[in-house]
Amino acid sequence: MGDGARSPLIVGSGIAGLYVALRAHEAGLRPTIVTKSGLAESNTRYAQGGIAAAIGPDDTTELHRRDTVRAGGGIVDLAAAQVLTSEAPKRIADLVRYGVPFDTIEGRIALGREGAHSRARILHAGGDATGLQIEETLRARVLEAGIEARERCRLRAFRPAADGTVTAVLSREDGSQAEEIASRPVVLATGGTASLYRQSSNPITATGEGVAIAFRSGALVTDMEFIQFHPTVFARDGAPRFLITEALRGEGAVLRNRAGEQFLLRYHPDAELATRDIVSRAIHQEMRRTGDPCVFLDATGIPRERLFARFPSICRFLSGYGIDPSRDLVPVSPMAHYMIGGVTTDLEGRTSLSGLLACGEVASTGVHGANRLASNSLLEGLVFGERVARQLDRPTAGGPRDAPRMLSLPLPPGQGEDPREACLRDVGAILGNDVGIVRDRAGLETAVAHFERWRDRCEPKIPSELASPSANAALTALLIARAALSREESRGAHFRLDFPRPLPRWKYHQGLRRDGA
Ligand code: SIN
Repeated sequence: MGDGARSPLIVGSGIAGLYVALRAHEAGLRPTIVTKSGLAESNTRYAQGGIAAAIGPDDTTELHRRDTVRAGGGIVDLAAAQVLTSEAPKRIADLVRYGVPFDTIEGRIALGREGAHSRARILHAGGDATGLQIEETLRARVLEAGIEARERCRLRAFRPAADGTVTAVLSREDGSQAEEIASRPVVLATGGTASLYRQSSNPITATGEGVAIAFRSGALVTDMEFIQFHPTVFARDGAPRFLITEALRGEGAVLRNRAGEQFLLRYHPDAELATRDIVSRAIHQEMRRTGDPCVFLDATGIPRERLFARFPSICRFLSGYGIDPSRDLVPVSPMAHYMIGGVTTDLEGRTSLSGLLACGEVASTGVHGANRLASNSLLEGLVFGERVARQLDRPTAGGPRDAPRMLSLPLPPGQGEDPREACLRDVGAILGNDVGIVRDRAGLETAVAHFERWRDRCEPKIPSELASPSANAALTALLIARAALSREESRGAHFRLDFPRPLPRWKYHQGLRRDGA
C-alpha cells in the first residue's frame, strides 16, 4: 500500500476521516482509509441535531465564537475558537458542493436553535438525520473517487520510523497477522470514547482506542476529565439508548419531572436552553431528589405536523415503543455522549508525535474548553480536517507543547490478557458509577485503582507486543479517571462534589503523558 508521503493513511471513517480523504484526493494524493468496522459505521451517522455555522442574516462568526467561548467554562482556546467559527461557512459550502441535502425553507438553508446558541444557526438534513445524510454523502463521494478503504481493519500501534516519524501497525478483524504500513503521514480520526460508559448515546465502536494507542506511543493527551453527557437519551429498560436531539428543546420542548413540574427553571434561568453540562447536572439532581430513573421530555407544545416533519427519525423510533411525542411524554436521562479531550493537536492538527496528525473527536484542540457547545462537533471534524488535509504533503514539524498542567503516568508491562467482555462490562460500570456526571475523591480513587488493576492484567507483557482492545479500554478509562481525580475543582462537564466551584488555579488545560515519553 502506498508510496510514502504521497499516500496518507487515514484511520477512521466518520466525518473527519471521510472529509480528509476527499480533500487529500482532490489535492492529488492517494489516501487510504482504514476502519475497524464498516465504512458506513461511525458516530457521525447518529448525530441528529446538526452542524453549527453562522450563515443566517442576523448572525456573525463573532457571535458564534462568543457562544463557543461562553459555553466552554473559561478554558476554550481562543485561537481555536476563532478558527472553528470563522472557517465554518466555507466548510459548509464544501458540504453543499459534495451534495449534502441540507433542509431548506423557501430556497434558503433552514436554521434551528440549540442550547446556549444566541442565534438560530444549526443546519440540519433529513430533519433529524443530519449525521446520516452527511456520512452517506461523503461516503458516496469517497467511493466515486475510488479511494481505497479497508474495512474491519484495526489500528494496533504506532512504531517509530527511521526518519523520526511514525508508521501504523494494522490487523484485520479476522485475527490474521498484523501488518506494518509504510503510508505516511498517519491521520488519526478514530472518534470518541463515550461507549466505554455503560450508559451512552454512542455506537459500541466508540471506545477511545485511538487515544490509548497514541498515549502508549508517547503522544501528549489533554483534557480527558471532560466527558460530556447528553441530557436527553431515550431511557426505557430494554430499549436502545437512542439520542433525542437537543434541537427538540430548541423548537420548544420542555423537561418535566414525574409530577409534571418544569423543574429546570429551579436550576438555571436559561432552563431548557442552558448549556449541556448545566442541563445534564440538573436532570441528574432531579432524578436523585425524586428517586425516579428518568425525567420526561414534553414536546406536546410543538404542532404535530411540524414535529413529525422536523423530527421524522425520532418520531419513527418512538412509535416502535407506542409513544406519540405530540401526545405523550418521552422518558429520557443523561448519558455519556462526547469526549471533549483527546490527543493534543495544534491548530494544524499536528500532534506531539512527528508524522501523526489528528482531527475530529479523537483530537483535543482546546476549542471546546470544558464543555462543548451543541452542534460544534461535526463542524470541528470538518474545519480541523481541512487544516489536516493541508498538512499532508508537508513535513509535519511543529505540534503542541506540554499543557500548563501535566501529569505523568506509568505504563508498566502487564499480563497481556484480553478478557474483552468482562473488561468492557466492568470498565463501563465503574465509569458510570464513579466517573459520571457528579464525582468525588473517594469514587475517583476507587475508579483509578480499579482501572490500574485492569491495566496490569491487560497491557502487553513486553512493549513490542501489540496491545489488545481490553488494554486500550482500560488505559483510556484510566486516563479519564486519573485526570478527573487530579482536577480538584468543578468546571464545565467535570463536577466534583468535594470541590463544587471553579478555581482560578485550575483555569488551565491538563495534559497527560506516559512516564519516560
Ligand atoms: C443533538 O442532536 O442533540 C446532538 C448534537 C451534538 O452533540 O452536538
